[in-house]
Amino acid sequence: MFKFISALFCLFVLTVAVPVYASGDAEKPPQQEWGSNGILGTYDRAALQRGYKVYSQVCASCHSMERASYRNLADLGYSAQEVKAIAAEYTVVDGPDDEGEMFERPALPSDNFVSPFANRQAAMYANNGAFPPDMSLLVKARAGGADYIYALLTGYDEPPHGDELLDGQYWNKYMPGHVLAMAPPIADGMVAYEDGSPETLHQYSMDVSHFLAWVSEPHMEARKRTGLKAFLFLLVFAFVMYGVKKKVWADIH
Ligand code: HEC
Repeated sequence: MFKFISALFCLFVLTVAVPVYASGDAEKPPQQEWGSNGILGTYDRAALQRGYKVYSQVCASCHSMERASYRNLADLGYSAQEVKAIAAEYTVVDGPDDEGEMFERPALPSDNFVSPFANRQAAMYANNGAFPPDMSLLVKARAGGADYIYALLTGYDEPPHGDELLDGQYWNKYMPGHVLAMAPPIADGMVAYEDGSPETLHQYSMDVSHFLAWVSEPHMEARKRTGLKAFLFLLVFAFVMYGVKKKVWADIH
């Protein structure tokens, strides 16, 4: 009886354990075709570099990315020299020096991404009281992941039924509750691409979402490769063990 009840309980948990959208009436973000989908999926280096450009030129003025460091950008295909040059564009506070004073110096590849605001209060003060969330793990922290980021960036609209919004509030089809404090951050033509990719809201949103997916899970490719190897090994091993079993039991009728 106990077994039956626990089986029933498991079945119940399995059926209801679908991702929960704390969204009320917000629409589910449509699925996009990411190169990183599926068990053989990999990140697209060119898209990641474009996405980094969008992040650093647009989003980084409000959103921090504290858990990533400049040297991680080598994964995107930048050389050691390029990573050094990117890091050196930022200033970090270091110290104390021999005299006990803190001092400023250009960032090194080993430094974490420099945050746009000194602390949470400063970030909220500059953004009408709303906090721009840190982007290091944002794709993992939101139901829908990269699909949600893309949908949010392209989901701004006029509020339906002529609803009134307060100053500094914007209506978005995909935001839980529909109202958020971030003005549409990007639009066509805002970031220059060198590789000839279209400079459109759609392309920027795809690229920056792809980039943020990488930031949240930089080792996804290695994880999938290891999983695939383990799977193939177990498959071959199963055949070998089947052969062994046949042989061991061959004389027993
Ligand atoms: C001018 C400042 C500013 C810029 C620039 C900006 N954001 Fe935001 N962002 C915010 C604020 C403030 C919030 C919090 C909004 C809220 O909670 O109502 C936010 C929230 C978000 C959220 C989270 C929504 C949620 O589910 O909670 C995402 C995703 C996001 N921003 C993506 C981006 C991307 C991608 C860029 C760059 C293309 C960007 N933002 C640029 C200020 C900014």
